[in-house]
Amino acid sequence: MRGEIRKFGTLDELSLAAAEDIASLIRDTVTEQGRFALALSGGNTPRTLHRLLAERYREDIPWNAVHIFFGDERYVPHDDKQSNYLMAKETLLDLVPIPAENIHPVPTGLPEYRKSADAYETELKKFFADDKQSFDLLLLGMGKEGHTASLFPHLKALDEKERWTAAVEVPAVPAKRITVTYPVLNRSSAVYFLISGEDKQDALEKVFDDASDFHLYPARGISPAAGRLVWWVAESAYPTRKGG
Ligand code: 6PG
Repeated sequence: MRGEIRKFGTLDELSLAAAEDIASLIRDTVTEQGRFALALSGGNTPRTLHRLLAERYREDIPWNAVHIFFGDERYVPHDDKQSNYLMAKETLLDLVPIPAENIHPVPTGLPEYRKSADAYETELKKFFADDKQSFDLLLLGMGKEGHTASLFPHLKALDEKERWTAAVEVPAVPAKRITVTYPVLNRSSAVYFLISGEDKQDALEKVFDDASDFHLYPARGISPAAGRLVWWVAESAYPTRKGG
């Protein structure tokens, strides 16, 4: 498997360590290059991290130089409780001094989800232009069947080579989603997976197995070409815990 594994007893411990790491990564990167592009994920796992970043690092992160993106979004209005943007807004973005123009949500208000995907591709291309790398840090979670962002098993979007985003229909609720595709996700300078919960053990075992196919376990397709990959794993999700 690729990447470094950092294992923690609990999600709280994991989130504390991740928050400290991320705060210093943001500070160092902003000192070097003047801005930091952070892509957030949905799901429940990052809520604790968000809260810590907002509470403990409100003053210690140069928020005015941070740009927020989303690795995926559900095709629902931004005030719908299923919206990844709403989750990020409530747990982090409303609590820190980040300029509104630095927040780049997926525009889900368009009449068709393919149009939302197209518009987000345009937004990403405008921001990154010809940059070799995309996000300075991409935060990802993993579903219990091995999906990541909204790249679910067997989707055609898993083989996308050109488009930066895809409109996908997935076997989850809500079904219609917009996801950033591998070519952009894998140009990130760093990718941190945050994984917690016993229901993740089986998929994580497969994702760590070099013989597994990313079409079956899409988290395996995340392999940043010129970036760091770190698996932040809570004990509850760790495969070896099974049977022993
Ligand atoms: C989404 C996510 C998704 C998520 C995983 C893990 O929009 O649903 O971006 O890929 O990260 O499903 O979710 P949990 O953290 O809730 O387990």
